[in-house]
Amino acid sequence: MRAAARSSSDADGTGEMPSARLRTLKMLAPYLAEFPGRVALSLAFLVGAKLAGVALPLVLGHLVDGLDRTQALLALPLGWLLAYGGLRFFNVLAGELRDIAFGRVTDRAMRRAGLRVFEHLQALDLEFHLGRRTGALARDIERGVEGIRFLLRFSLFNIAPTLFELVLVTVILWGKFDWRYAAIAFVSVAVYVVFSVRVTEWRTQYVKQQNQLDSSAGARALDALLNYETVKYFGNERFEAQRYDSSLAAWERASAKNRASLSLLNVGQAVIVAGAITLMMVLAAAQVRAGSMRIGAFVAINAYMVQLFVPLNFLGFVYRELRRAMIDLQRMFGLLGAAPRVVDAPAARELRTARAGVRFEQIRFGYQPARQILRGVNFEIPPGHKLAVVGASGAGKSTIARLLFRFYDADAGDVRVGGRDVREWTQASLRAHIGVVPQDTVLFNDSIGYNIAYGRPQASRAEIERAAAMAHLDTFIASLPQGYDTPVGERGLKLSGGEKQRIAIARAMLKDPPILILDEATSSLDSHAEAAILEALREAGARRTVLAVAHRLSTITDADEIVVLENGRIVERGTHAELLARGGAYARSWRLQQQRGGVAGAPSLIAAG
Ligand SMILES: Nc1ncnc2c1ncn2[C@@H]1O[C@H](COP(=O)(O)OP(=O)(O)OP(=O)(O)O)[C@@H](O)[C@H]1O
Ligand SMILES: [Mg+2]
Repeated sequence: MRAAARSSSDADGTGEMPSARLRTLKMLAPYLAEFPGRVALSLAFLVGAKLAGVALPLVLGHLVDGLDRTQALLALPLGWLLAYGGLRFFNVLAGELRDIAFGRVTDRAMRRAGLRVFEHLQALDLEFHLGRRTGALARDIERGVEGIRFLLRFSLFNIAPTLFELVLVTVILWGKFDWRYAAIAFVSVAVYVVFSVRVTEWRTQYVKQQNQLDSSAGARALDALLNYETVKYFGNERFEAQRYDSSLAAWERASAKNRASLSLLNVGQAVIVAGAITLMMVLAAAQVRAGSMRIGAFVAINAYMVQLFVPLNFLGFVYRELRRAMIDLQRMFGLLGAAPRVVDAPAARELRTARAGVRFEQIRFGYQPARQILRGVNFEIPPGHKLAVVGASGAGKSTIARLLFRFYDADAGDVRVGGRDVREWTQASLRAHIGVVPQDTVLFNDSIGYNIAYGRPQASRAEIERAAAMAHLDTFIASLPQGYDTPVGERGLKLSGGEKQRIAIARAMLKDPPILILDEATSSLDSHAEAAILEALREAGARRTVLAVAHRLSTITDADEIVVLENGRIVERGTHAELLARGGAYARSWRLQQQRGGVAGAPSLIAAG
């Protein structure tokens, strides 16, 4: 049921519904409303440019007739010549002024929309991001933002003014010349527009297909590059290249279809334009021959037709691009339609405390309804106490940590922090109280100093250094030529596993939260470093509520309570000594780990199932 709710919200196939298109356009309106003065000014320039443009053929006609009638070369129709030159110049100038006035509007709209989508993506739940391809997501945003620029510019400055011009020209042809010219102009334009729209609608599928293949090829390449090391470990360069190439081949095929359909559109448009102009010229030539029309009128009519179809030719392109921009925009705004599953309750309160206990009451949870991970988990960590969770790999230990951090909401039962259900606190205030050293540390592609300071960006240099010392990073950082400014590489891959883990510990320390989640926080360290850091964590944990997850049991012997997770339930609980005395699963694992020295290859506690 959850899956169904999600899939309907980010469906991409809504592009064909006019109502969806209308909604997309409506979403653009507020961006125009932000600079009403600029919009009005640019529209004024636009009207000015169009009026000048429409006057041009008339002036040209007078010019030709003037030439015709002058006996002496000296008596050039100077007034008409100057008017013609002036109008041409004004036409271009007004266009430029319009662009200057409107540029800010589109830029600001792009900025606002880009930010809005980014913030929304950040607000979406973890599950959304785990299910998405980041590369494709980035492409969608990029194209959507570009689509906004196009849509604003061209719907306002191309479609509408071209229609305005069409009406103006038709009226002039009728009034100044003959109704038949007006009729031909109007009908041919109507046929042209209908043809262009129809064919463009039909070929949209190819444009869409090509876009999709473009995104997925990009995502595929990005994925292979992110997994550079893995690709090399298995010598799968050729395999990855083939996968990428098969994406590109599909893109190539789609592109060919796209191009062929575009040519069809262009040829069809050319037939309509050529037919209409020829018809008019035949009519006008006959009238000139019969003496009922002057040469100047013939020239003016020809100029009108050319002038009318130049923007119309462009209109075909613009309509195509508008459709494309619309699709891109719907995709991007479709992301805005995806609702986060974890949201603040309307009456959510701010958690503000220096000491908070944690309590899991009858927690049931599964990532998918069909597979339950936790089936009724109960425990309590009083403020300042430490609870350790042990269990086989995949038992759901990290899941417990994710529920406490509220990356997910439990299906049943309450997760309580500070005496209240986590859903009664705002997410931001709840998370501000929890420090996490995750099982897998991923770093930002920046310096070591930046990554540590991320725990509390406003921390002073001295505080950062203290946190680094606590995580036993000080000697390591001192040994680096660039010290705190050393870059860590993409996702932190330039550091060793233990170094990354210690950075994760340092930034959690810097955050200084009342609740600490340590998910295998020392698993990548050698026993010497581990002993030292465990001591530091013990000190830091003395004042805090700690939830620790560990495979290496020697690291959690000091816990106030240890719970053993199996098949989604807690099967044993007690202190280290109590569990040993009990002689159950915990005691068996302990003995096994002691025999092996407890360091190398910590065995899974209990076989699953
Ligand atoms: N986002 C997810 N969607 C679906 N299943 C998931 C998701 N995350 C985890 N799982 C599954 O939930 C189960 C519990 O995962 P969890 O990460 O809690 O295990 P764990 O006890 O921390 O294991 P380990 O000791 O290996 O870290 C696993 O079987 C895992 O495959
Ligand atoms: Mg885990």
